[in-house]
Amino acid sequence: MLGRRVVDAARAAGHDVVALDRAALDVTDEEAVRARMADERPDAVVNCAAWTDVDGAQEHMREALEVNANAAGHVARAAAQQGARVVHVSTDYVFDGSKDAPWLESDPVGPLQSYGATKLGGEYAVAVGNPDHAVVRSAWLFGAGGRNFVDTMLHLGAQRDEVAVVSDQVGSPTWTGHLATALVTLAAAPAGAGGRHVSAGGGSRAVLPTGTFHVAAGGACSWHELCVEAFRLAGVGCTVTETTSAAFPRPAPRPAYSVLGTQRADAPRLPPWQEGLAAHLAERVPA
Ligand SMILES: NC(=O)c1ccc[n+]([C@@H]2O[C@H](COP(=O)([O-])OP(=O)(O)OC[C@H]3O[C@@H](n4cnc5c(N)ncnc54)[C@H](OP(=O)(O)O)[C@@H]3O)[C@@H](O)[C@H]2O)c1
Repeated sequence: MLGRRVVDAARAAGHDVVALDRAALDVTDEEAVRARMADERPDAVVNCAAWTDVDGAQEHMREALEVNANAAGHVARAAAQQGARVVHVSTDYVFDGSKDAPWLESDPVGPLQSYGATKLGGEYAVAVGNPDHAVVRSAWLFGAGGRNFVDTMLHLGAQRDEVAVVSDQVGSPTWTGHLATALVTLAAAPAGAGGRHVSAGGGSRAVLPTGTFHVAAGGACSWHELCVEAFRLAGVGCTVTETTSAAFPRPAPRPAYSVLGTQRADAPRLPPWQEGLAAHLAERVPA
C-alpha cells in the first residue's frame, strides 16, 4: 500500500526510481539484496517491505522477525555498502500506549505485541547497519492499493445498518499520499539543493538529517471517530456505535494511546488526518 505511493511520489519529484515488490526481490535473501543493490547503485533506498499482519505476528513471530528486523538490516547494510542512504518505515506500535500526550522520538519504547517488537528490532538493525539512515515511525495508514481500516469500514457500512467500533484506542490516522511525499523528502534533497554534500553513485548528494523521525498526520482520534468521519464524508448512512477493546478482543493487544508527535525541527509535518481522509475518499470515489 505505502510502497506504491512512494514510487509515485518519487517519480513525481523527478527521481529515477527502481520499484521492487516481493516477487522482484525477497528482502529476507541477504545475498540477493546485496547483489541487487550493487547492480542498481542507488543514492537512496526507501524500505516499505514488512510483515504487516499485526495479529498474525503473534503466532508467526519468527517469520515476522525475519522480515521486520533481519531483512531491514540486510537492506540497510547493502545500501551502506553502496554509499546509499536508507529510509526505513516503522510504527507507533513500538510504544505501549500509556502516555496521554503525543509520543516523541526520545520517549521510551515498549511494544505490547510481537509485531511492535519485531519492528523495533528493525529500527535497531537499520541504525546499526547504516549510519546514513532515517527511521520514520508513522501510524494507522490508509490509502489506495492495500487493506486498511477506512476501506474495510466503508465496505461494511454499505452492507449493514449498524457497526460497532472501538473508541478506547486513539491514534494518528495517516494517508499514504501525505506520508509518501515526506518519505521522498527524507530520502533525497531536490536536485541542486544547497548545504553540505557527500559523493555518491558517481555524483554528489546533499547531506540529510539522520536518526528517528515521527511523521504522522496532525491531530488525533479514535477508530470510532475515524469511522464516523469517513461515513460522513462518504455519505454512508450506517450508524456507528462505540465499543471497547475488551469487548472486541484481538490476538495482539493494541496501545490505548499511540498518537505521534515530534520534537525534531527537521521532521516533515503532515496535514491533519481529516485532510488525508478527504483526499483518500476523493481518490477512491472520483467526483
Ligand atoms: N498499515 C499501517 O497501519 C502501518 C502503520 C504504521 C507503520 N506501517 C509500516 O508501513 C510500512 C508499509 O506498510 P503497508 O501498510 O504499506 O503494508 P503492506 O501493504 O502490507 O505492504 C508491505 C509490503 O511488504 C511486502 N513484503 C513482505 N515480505 C516481503 C519480503 N520478504 N520481501 C519483499 N517484500 C516483502 C509485502 O508483499 P506481499 O503483499 O507479497 O506480502 C507488501 O507488499 C511497513 O513498514 C509497516 O510496518 C504500517
